[in-house]
Amino acid sequence: MTMTMTVPASVRPMRNAMFALLGALALGACSSMPKIDGISDSITSVFGSNKPQVEASPASQAAPAPSVDFATSTEVHPEIWPLGQSGEPRDPAIEAQVAALLSKMTLEEKVGQMLQPDINTITPDEVRQYHIGSILNGGDSGPGGELRAPAAEWLKAADAYYNASIDVPAGHAVVPIIWGIDAIHGQDHIIGATLFPQNIALGAMNDPTLVKKADEVTAEEMRVTGQDWTFAPTIAVVRDDRWGRSYEGFSESADRVTEATTAMIEGLQGMPGTPEFLNGDHVIATAKHYIGDGGTDGGRNAGNNLYGEPELRDLFAPPYEAAIKAGVQTVMVSYSSWRGQKMHANKGLITDVLIKRLGFDGFVVSDWQGFAEVPGCSGTDCPASINAGIDMFMGPADWKTTYANILSEVKSGVIPMARLDEAVGRILRVKLRAGVMTEGKPSSRPRAGQYDLIGSPDHLAVARQAVRESLVLLKNDAGLLPLSPKAHVLVAGDGAESLTKQMGGWTISWQGYGNTPADFPHATTIFQGIKQNVEAAGGTATLSVDGSFTQKPDVAIVVFGENPYAEGVGDRPDVDFQPGNRRALKLLQSLRAQGIPVVSVFISGRPLYVTPEINASNAFVAAWLPGSEGEGISDVLFSKPDGAVAYDFRGTLPFSWPRAPDQTPLNVGTSPYDPLFAYGYGLRYETPGNLGALPEAKSEPAILADTLSFVDAGHAMAPWSFALIGSKDAIANVGSLQAPGGALKISTAHSDAQSDLLMASWTGKGSASLALMGANANVDWQANEDMALSLRVRVAIAPTRQVTLAMANGPNKLSKVDLTAALREALGKGWTTLQVRLPCFKSAGADLRTITAPMMLTTAGKLAIDLDFVKVTEGTGASSCPVAAGM
Ligand code: BGC
Repeated sequence: MTMTMTVPASVRPMRNAMFALLGALALGACSSMPKIDGISDSITSVFGSNKPQVEASPASQAAPAPSVDFATSTEVHPEIWPLGQSGEPRDPAIEAQVAALLSKMTLEEKVGQMLQPDINTITPDEVRQYHIGSILNGGDSGPGGELRAPAAEWLKAADAYYNASIDVPAGHAVVPIIWGIDAIHGQDHIIGATLFPQNIALGAMNDPTLVKKADEVTAEEMRVTGQDWTFAPTIAVVRDDRWGRSYEGFSESADRVTEATTAMIEGLQGMPGTPEFLNGDHVIATAKHYIGDGGTDGGRNAGNNLYGEPELRDLFAPPYEAAIKAGVQTVMVSYSSWRGQKMHANKGLITDVLIKRLGFDGFVVSDWQGFAEVPGCSGTDCPASINAGIDMFMGPADWKTTYANILSEVKSGVIPMARLDEAVGRILRVKLRAGVMTEGKPSSRPRAGQYDLIGSPDHLAVARQAVRESLVLLKNDAGLLPLSPKAHVLVAGDGAESLTKQMGGWTISWQGYGNTPADFPHATTIFQGIKQNVEAAGGTATLSVDGSFTQKPDVAIVVFGENPYAEGVGDRPDVDFQPGNRRALKLLQSLRAQGIPVVSVFISGRPLYVTPEINASNAFVAAWLPGSEGEGISDVLFSKPDGAVAYDFRGTLPFSWPRAPDQTPLNVGTSPYDPLFAYGYGLRYETPGNLGALPEAKSEPAILADTLSFVDAGHAMAPWSFALIGSKDAIANVGSLQAPGGALKISTAHSDAQSDLLMASWTGKGSASLALMGANANVDWQANEDMALSLRVRVAIAPTRQVTLAMANGPNKLSKVDLTAALREALGKGWTTLQVRLPCFKSAGADLRTITAPMMLTTAGKLAIDLDFVKVTEGTGASSCPVAAGM
């Protein structure tokens, strides 16, 4: 048969089939030896032929040791790094208290301070028993295992952990616990919180005063629910937009990142050296991920940063210098490596540079199990990380074992006692500065329990202003914008009425999936904002996601873009938007063909190749990930009723915009530099002009012959990755081998000399899914309905309950078939290929044009399989469909 299937062009030769989600499965990836061959090439191509074009920093004053060959060196030379110091002066009274506490604490109490278990894994009683220093809720955990617990439950949990932590025997040191949370774009785990545009948008806004104000709001809303510490801001200088965390960064330019860093930390913590610092209105901030997270090779999450030490200093360190000056109290170490060495064990960069040169005097926290991949370490044991200067272990796989290991390693001297005291002393210093020793229980602190502050009108107004200011106008031919609010407007595209899409990742759940409008009681979609605006002025707005209409509109606003993702799940093999099917483009073209002027509003966590979409639009706006205040967009798109400009655009590009799918890395100040829109670009109403037709990239990168594979030899193929989904739709942590709740575990094994396989076993302790997900991965199978989804499996334990196989159209729409009988039959038969014809998914409700997840295997019973491949093949499967009964 002829292969006429439309396939994602992004399904290309595996550059690195593994994503961070699969980190622990990435055979060889974790243990890679320092590999610096070709490093001079890579630097030349990044910086141009001769002179490294890095942004100037005070660091350049320090003289490099002349004998060092920085092009190849993996050694750290602290002497070339600038000397700095914290903006918060040392307080002799605090230092004396630290010493007094240390002299009083037992060894066990000190070890407990260094641990930060996830609240899903520890009870208040265990906090008391183990003298735990901190807890966190990871991206997918909440009080009582409930991600969507009401605000009052969060505060209640904070009190419970706090009370346990101060419940010590008479005569012992009282050291209250602190709770860390990813308040990334607002207090984003809490229902109803004010959700700001993600950092990339704040970078576009380029308005430090407003960034500061936004994070004052975040601090205040955090105080309401009792968390002490946010793992923000990400101060990555993002150099390759394939990185799935690009949107968490402010910019590709160290200058812009540095400015926003200062503003955000001051907003969260208050001004250092003044009485407002960490007072009742503020919270502890984190500068992350130290260092070079945004500069990994290929933009791979948790990958390898190959820059030389001077570039590390001049390009990636300035935001850290600024953060320390702004008094940041914690620094989180990056999952990534520098020249093959895991940052989590890099004593040179942590102790000798960050602490001894840059002058950081707060405490250093690991990333989530970030120590696990250090050679010689595990998820429960890593003295090398502690000895390198990490003071607190976040999310240990089994914190009780970790506790025992640290304890015995201190006793045996593997971890020197002085190092333990230093680590704990730093944690105590931060706690004293933050006032937690004297502030009382979380619910008794300023702002606590004032639930009407969460998503209050004042707070939402700040977020709405940030949306307005962060929009970047890329095209406005013939001055189509601003639109008249008296017009008849068609609002189309799958982003028009999608809070999920406009929020991005780190929103209630880790990946930003699984949310419903009920989770955002104060939010406004982009369509709702437009509707309110035009109806007030006498116009009309009609929502039509697919662009169909009965009455021809005056203008169409089409809202489209990326679906949410977080961390490595968002990594991409290139920067093409909708390779293969270009669905949004077809919508734009069909509206234009009907003579309707089109305004595109592009939602994305990074610049992507969208030249065809820009050419098919009369006006084009980069809206990033705007958060809860969709009205901010219509504020700018529409004039006042009298035609006067209501709000002009003021955003400028914080990242260079690519002119081709493979044009990455692409960064200002490097050579060659030939972006479609340069860093800093952004049109204004006051300076109109026509862009005209832009050159489209000649051809998309070659499509692999084997485009129909999703899993091969047990490995997910880019852009797909495995997602382990457990209780309450929580998706497993990066590198995790089990679904949240523990009902599904995976591992890899060798099938034979050439090949691996994936072993997946469901324990029957609740429902869990093995799924394939990919950022923007999106396949169109409409023309190929005669084909089948094929899974080559070996069944080790037959299902004890129903097993469904589903495909997804976006986060909330699953179309399921029943695989129970087929799996039961396959038991004892060795390798078997199970096939389900695509029309079966269609009759179960799937839209074959936009499949976003090609496989999701779910059961609440027991099941164990080995998985070899998942492919679309010619459909030789049974002609009847295995209907999923009762689903
Ligand atoms: C991320 C961090 C985050 C932490 C806690 C990690 O996977 O890399 O940025 O703060 O999880 O959720």
